[in-house]
Amino acid sequence: LLGTVGGVGVAGLALGAAGGAGVYAAVESPDGTSPLTSVGSTEVMFHGKHQAGIATPLQSTGHLVAFDLAPGAGRKEAAALMRRWSATARSLMAGEPASSGDTGVALDAGPSSLTVTFGFGASFFDRTQLADRRPAQLDPLPDFSSDQLDPKRSNGDLWVQIGSDDALVAFHALRAIQQDAGSAAKVRWQMNGFNRTPGATEKPMTARNLMGQIDGTGNPKPSDADFDQRIFVPDTAQPAWMAGGSYAVVRRIRMLLDTWEKLPLTEQEQVIGRKKSNGAPLSGGTETTKMQLDKFGPDGKLVIPENAHARIAAPEQNGGAAMLRRAFSYHDGIAADGTPDAGLLFVAWQADPVKGFVPVQRKLDRGDALSPFLRHEASGLFAVPGGPRAGEYVGQRLLE
Ligand code: HEM
Repeated sequence: LLGTVGGVGVAGLALGAAGGAGVYAAVESPDGTSPLTSVGSTEVMFHGKHQAGIATPLQSTGHLVAFDLAPGAGRKEAAALMRRWSATARSLMAGEPASSGDTGVALDAGPSSLTVTFGFGASFFDRTQLADRRPAQLDPLPDFSSDQLDPKRSNGDLWVQIGSDDALVAFHALRAIQQDAGSAAKVRWQMNGFNRTPGATEKPMTARNLMGQIDGTGNPKPSDADFDQRIFVPDTAQPAWMAGGSYAVVRRIRMLLDTWEKLPLTEQEQVIGRKKSNGAPLSGGTETTKMQLDKFGPDGKLVIPENAHARIAAPEQNGGAAMLRRAFSYHDGIAADGTPDAGLLFVAWQADPVKGFVPVQRKLDRGDALSPFLRHEASGLFAVPGGPRAGEYVGQRLLE
């Protein structure tokens, strides 16, 4: 139905294709009926230098799913599976039905910014006898003191990230991907997440997480001169099949919301170093003002505290270590003890996790003010190859 946003006749937020900025598009039709809104009609390209779903603006629904190859399945079966998955991703991202046995769940919807992104875990390379082509970047992440990781919900041979601005379109893609797996691979774990609905806010904004914070402000932007260098594997790097790819660190981070919500607002803001209302640094300005990390208040204390999350995680405090955090919130109901099973499906993208996630998490783990309110429950590290060229399937340069 046609909605009004901020009092103007606008019915949806069009999110541009990979890397594009969000813009409003008016789609009111003269007879008062609503054509496919811009939310539904937005298509993200399957082919390209990089896979979709990395620099693509956040979508409102996300599914993360990891698979293990079936006993006896090796390189040949893996290549056939990547070929099937790529064909399905290409069709569904264009808003077309899956070529084999479409379930009809997305029949009325447009592409709805669907992205399907594929990655390989370290174990994939042993299963396919490709250990000599495994990137060193897939060496296991170090242990962190705040880890309470469930191995059954961690890692996996193959990883698929699905994102869409429509929940039915996202579910449809998840089912198609699972069906395509056939006898070649079995689901190891699966997680569901969400973000703000396009058009829910008067203008496009950085998302809020379930602690209520504006989350994503400090992210590298596709318009930054060093964005590609920080997020994507250069053409000259080894192994060559990873050119244009990226490494995804996936963490299921439970938020201890009962404890967090009892904390007074000013203390919550000290924990992050930013204001909850608008995300501005405590040193002043607006959301986009640079943090002044050396500013002292009248009480002689640092305005952005020594252990504030945003200070400790800032690239200038970590020798330039940066990553693109592209998370989904999750809520899997109320646990038996009455606490919400909720938090962040944290997905961090970088050209090299040893220069991105690892040093930052090491430092956060040693005394970040946010850590007491979090529990890292699952973890994965995946090599996400570059985008497929026309006629290619994802991972072809590794598997052919
Ligand atoms: C910044 C929340 C976990 C790395 C922030 C900010 C918030 C936040 C509110 C400030 C706004 C922004 O720049 O985005 C959270 C929550 C987490 C979490 C709720 C867990 C549930 C992590 C983890 C890492 C991380 C595990 C990496 C190891 C960063 C970085 C920044 C940041 C790099 C930007 C710092 C800057 O450029 O100034 N986070 N964070 N965060 N966080 Fe987290």
